[in-house]
Amino acid sequence: MINFKDEIIKILDQKLNEDKEVMTKEEISNAIEVPPTSDMGDYAFPVFSLAKVYRKNPNLISKEIAESIKSDYFEKVESKSAYINFFINKEKLAQTVIDEVITKGEEFGKEDVGQNKNVVIEYSSPNIAKPFHIGHIRSTVIGDSIKRIYKFLGYNTISYNHLGDYGTQFGMLIVAIKKWGNREEIAKNPIPELLKLYVKINQEVENDQELRDECRSWFAKLEKGDEEAVELWKWIREVSLLEFNRVYKMLDIQYDTYKGESFYSDLMQAEVDQLKKSGALVESEGAQIVDLSKYDLPVALIIKSDGSTIYITRDIAAAHYRHEEHKPYKNIYVVGSQQTLHFQQLKAILKEMGYDWSDEIVHVPFGMVSLEDGTLSTRKGRVVYLEDVLNKATEKVKEILSQREEERGQKIENKDELAAQVGIGAIKFQELFNQRIKDYMFSWDKTLSFDGETGPYVQYAHARIASLLEKGGFDKNAEVDYKLLKSEDEHEIIKTLYNFTNVVIDAHEKYEPYFITRYVGDLARLFNRYYGHTQIITDEDSVLKNTRLMLCYGVKNVLKEGLYLLGIQAPEKM
Ligand code: ARG
Repeated sequence: MINFKDEIIKILDQKLNEDKEVMTKEEISNAIEVPPTSDMGDYAFPVFSLAKVYRKNPNLISKEIAESIKSDYFEKVESKSAYINFFINKEKLAQTVIDEVITKGEEFGKEDVGQNKNVVIEYSSPNIAKPFHIGHIRSTVIGDSIKRIYKFLGYNTISYNHLGDYGTQFGMLIVAIKKWGNREEIAKNPIPELLKLYVKINQEVENDQELRDECRSWFAKLEKGDEEAVELWKWIREVSLLEFNRVYKMLDIQYDTYKGESFYSDLMQAEVDQLKKSGALVESEGAQIVDLSKYDLPVALIIKSDGSTIYITRDIAAAHYRHEEHKPYKNIYVVGSQQTLHFQQLKAILKEMGYDWSDEIVHVPFGMVSLEDGTLSTRKGRVVYLEDVLNKATEKVKEILSQREEERGQKIENKDELAAQVGIGAIKFQELFNQRIKDYMFSWDKTLSFDGETGPYVQYAHARIASLLEKGGFDKNAEVDYKLLKSEDEHEIIKTLYNFTNVVIDAHEKYEPYFITRYVGDLARLFNRYYGHTQIITDEDSVLKNTRLMLCYGVKNVLKEGLYLLGIQAPEKM
């Protein structure tokens, strides 16, 4: 597609830097703005900084430059006080967008900005033997979307699920299973059963030093590779993963690797040695710590006084492993904002260790989700399993669809599949609707509404276009004439399609899927308005009909791609 901003840069570079360089191309690029309202043009360039160079009033500078610009990429170049406003040539814009629709089809707007760059992205990372609850939805869905966005832009992504599968609690679980557990019973309903055992052993050890010692010794056995301990631990991991994977499948989420914390247990010693070598590790009351005061951060505990390593020790090893393995451009961690300090410390420690790659680490935090009725709290017995929420959404959509069947007197094909696509899509859409750092309240009504900015609303616009194309006998090779797209509605749609790639690029730079959520919501709304105003399938003029359908086809593809980047399906019929 024509890059209008690049054209402006080219023009200004010629104007400003003819005799001597006044502004670099990069400076020009950074200065160009998108005005708040379209009556001020599509792009604007402020000239304040040029006043010193030219020793002239900025208003005059802007006037002189604007008047001297002749370019058929812009239908108007206007001076407004100290700004030069550029109005894109609508015909050229329509031409370039329609060309892209024709040549790229379902890959509209795809760009390779990340070629040959590896990006590691870690998300979800639940703790095994613990419930996979509604609180986990955030990391899981935000992380998956960020992965899809990076992939779309040509990056080579490697997705990690850093399972919490290591630590002294497994000594406790092993003892509990051996004491009170029945493996057949547990296997039938693993997580709730393991949770019960975990709660019980936690209560029992409170007043029982002997039991505590037993737990500790079983964790020590596990670390040393004792056959029975390892077998039990492996089994706990396996039955947990079976449950997690059921949910990942419902969510259409895949991983390249499930290397959890345990994977790094053998790699920790080397890191501790490096920490000692770098002089960063000091002893304090029998424990090994790193002083991070020069980073304005609290001391980090690396090895406890009983010699055991902790969470952050494994993260040091994991970061180094990922670096060596993938030489990533970015190593992204999608983890809640409660762990911001942890990742600040991690980065600082790596720096202290002399690892010059520590800046590749990016923590992508997010706020909390709560439920309307307050059921989110994971206090004993009040766990809301993510799987139950997803099933409930699917059930609720199924009810709505059944109602529709009755109203229309017509059966809906693949009702179950459709209900899952819409129900789970709706949940993801709401999850990705706001800036990720904000806390949000999950609401069933908002999520499942078919109008307003929701997943079903966008999916419905997509399906509506699919049936429109079918009804109009859309043919990708039919003659079109972009000059016929003259209405305000059409122009708005074309402009929005044109912006798609930029929105994805912004989303990847800021790790914000909600840019895309808002974007597809807008595009669906613009389409519906167009659909309401315009007879798209006209009989009078077949080229006009083809051209309008081509525009709709472009909207359909971009809605589908946008939804895909959010991890949401785009059914053809609804
Ligand atoms: N398992 C941890 C939890 O449930 C999250 C892991 C985050 N990732 C990491 N590399 N530390 O809180």
